[in-house]
Amino acid sequence: MILPPATLGILGGGQLGRYFVMAAQRMGYRVVVFDPDAQSVAAKTADAHIHADWNDQNALREFATQCRAITTEFENVPATTMEFLARFTTVHPSADAVAICQHRSHEKAFLVKHGIPIAAYADIRHEDDFAQVNESHFPAILKLASSGYDGKGQQVVKSIEDANEAFIQFGRQHCVLEKMIQLDKEISVVLARSEDGDIRYYPAARNEHRNGILAVSVMPAPDVSDALMEQAKQVASQIAFDMNYVGTLAVEFFISGNQLLVNEIAPRPHNSGHTTLDICVTSQFEQQVRALCGLPLGDTTPHCTGVMLNLLGDRWFVNGSEKPQTPEWNKLLMNPKSRLHLYGKSEARIGRKMGHVTLLADQSVPLSSQVQALEALI
Ligand SMILES: Nc1ncnc2c1ncn2[C@@H]1O[C@H](COP(=O)(O)OP(=O)(O)O)[C@@H](O)[C@H]1O
Ligand SMILES: [Mg+2]
Repeated sequence: MILPPATLGILGGGQLGRYFVMAAQRMGYRVVVFDPDAQSVAAKTADAHIHADWNDQNALREFATQCRAITTEFENVPATTMEFLARFTTVHPSADAVAICQHRSHEKAFLVKHGIPIAAYADIRHEDDFAQVNESHFPAILKLASSGYDGKGQQVVKSIEDANEAFIQFGRQHCVLEKMIQLDKEISVVLARSEDGDIRYYPAARNEHRNGILAVSVMPAPDVSDALMEQAKQVASQIAFDMNYVGTLAVEFFISGNQLLVNEIAPRPHNSGHTTLDICVTSQFEQQVRALCGLPLGDTTPHCTGVMLNLLGDRWFVNGSEKPQTPEWNKLLMNPKSRLHLYGKSEARIGRKMGHVTLLADQSVPLSSQVQALEALI
């Protein structure tokens, strides 16, 4: 066990890293953030910030020397960076697990290999690869195999010609062409797995995306059958087991009829797990600390249903103003059932995640009217 006041390291310095820092510091650890971005919001709360490139070996060696154990908040950290760090200190999850999750094609191949259902897809490396695609595959989504997020690097396509054009626009980089699913619902499961294989899950959350970005997440997911909720947990834990995963992991699913398909895997805490900060004794970030340090995993039972509304930068530009204006939070702050989270980002931009609100839902009132009432307060 790695006990406080040991120093822990986190790769990446966004809001997920910031919550890791806060969870670890509350438990008495020191935390160093490694992030190339000088404006890192995690670094503002951390004990130290190493502000260097992902491939800067001197800086990485310095980071590894300072940290008793290192984890990540960002799946696009080069796997070679994580391998390098693992030569000097404990690193969880493994570079191998992160390498699978950071590449859609590797991720899909991994899921297929382990018999886990996913949407039909074709690997597209060259224009020639479209020859093996059937017209019945459309409509489809062409997705860049690596470095896409929040719906970026994706294009809906209706035909092979369309797909070809999008492929050229993406600079002929490796893509996957994924059949469009008739989505009834989207859910996600966040879990934590320890080095000795113990797994604790949070109940599946139900997610609603707008423009490819998570907008609303409800935990536990309403209107999803017990059978599907259970199946989602089983699939998520199988994935964690098959990756020999250590840390907090999230699995996103599509529900189409009574079919459960895996969409993607995040080797880190997840936006849909933010409710755990307010509705559970142990948040997804504290689990990340516990799993990293070999501490017993904590309790994941929610006290109540939690609703998370993302606060995008768009809300800072509501009156068509050119300059961002901080929204008025008064009404929200006066509501006893909501908690406001802001991530400390200095500049609001359209589509940027600035914070979120958690509603502690009341069981005796329909959820949709509570969400509407909350929206009206913002
Ligand atoms: N094959 C698909 N069929 C239908 N909707 C999809 C499909 N792929 C993605 N989407 C929609 O787009 C969202 C973002 O896609 P995703 O692959 O999860 O990318 P990101 O890495 O940006 O989260 C999904 O949550 C879903 O709402
Ligand atoms: Mg996604």
